[in-house]
Amino acid sequence: MDELKRQAAEQAVTLITSGMVVGLGEGSTALWALRAIARRLGDGSLSNIVGVPCSKNIERHATELGIPLTTLEAYDHIDLTIDGADEVDPQLNLIKGGGGALLREKIVAQASLREIIIVDESKLSPALGTKWHVPIEVVPFGWGSQRRFLESLGAKVTLRQSKTGGNFITDQGNFILDSHFGPISDPAALAATLSARAGIVEHGLFVGLTTQLIVATRK
Ligand code: A5P
Repeated sequence: MDELKRQAAEQAVTLITSGMVVGLGEGSTALWALRAIARRLGDGSLSNIVGVPCSKNIERHATELGIPLTTLEAYDHIDLTIDGADEVDPQLNLIKGGGGALLREKIVAQASLREIIIVDESKLSPALGTKWHVPIEVVPFGWGSQRRFLESLGAKVTLRQSKTGGNFITDQGNFILDSHFGPISDPAALAATLSARAGIVEHGLFVGLTTQLIVATRK
């Protein structure tokens, strides 16, 4: 699967041209793109690009790889973002946030002229929610109320735990409620319901944000 992720990433990086502001997605697939960008900067086939990282983790990797970084204060838009996804439906709607970076990822996606999503074929799905839960970022205050709200919508909800123990904390200091809805018939309607709830900072449904999908397949 890693080789498929690498192939999708390599393909996406060919869309970057010198001088671009590039959104740098989170996750193992996006990390392959980061490596490919660094390689192209090193061999001179790409120059004068700046990146906006979608997580502290990717910020650290980009810094180690020598990729110059910037902010959405310094630039009013991002030319092109390359990011991964957890599940993709036929309309190119996504579930994202497996790595917990959904808030920054959505801010970056909404600021991008082009959102390029790179996945291996295992991420393709007939309906969002079939293969993956919806990560929902909530403020710690009153999170139990958000859990009950999500359960009232039919979800089975788990408070995400960190690998080292304790509650998972996002880059913004929030919790994540991983919410299993099963197949979601109307992602846009669910997205609107979730966005209207106080205490929910952001959700992992990315509706209508994908410009282009690159899928690596075994065939
Ligand atoms: C990060 O929060 C996510 O949205 C990732 O983009 C998603 O989990 C895909 O990750 P992989 O590329 O590691 O499968």
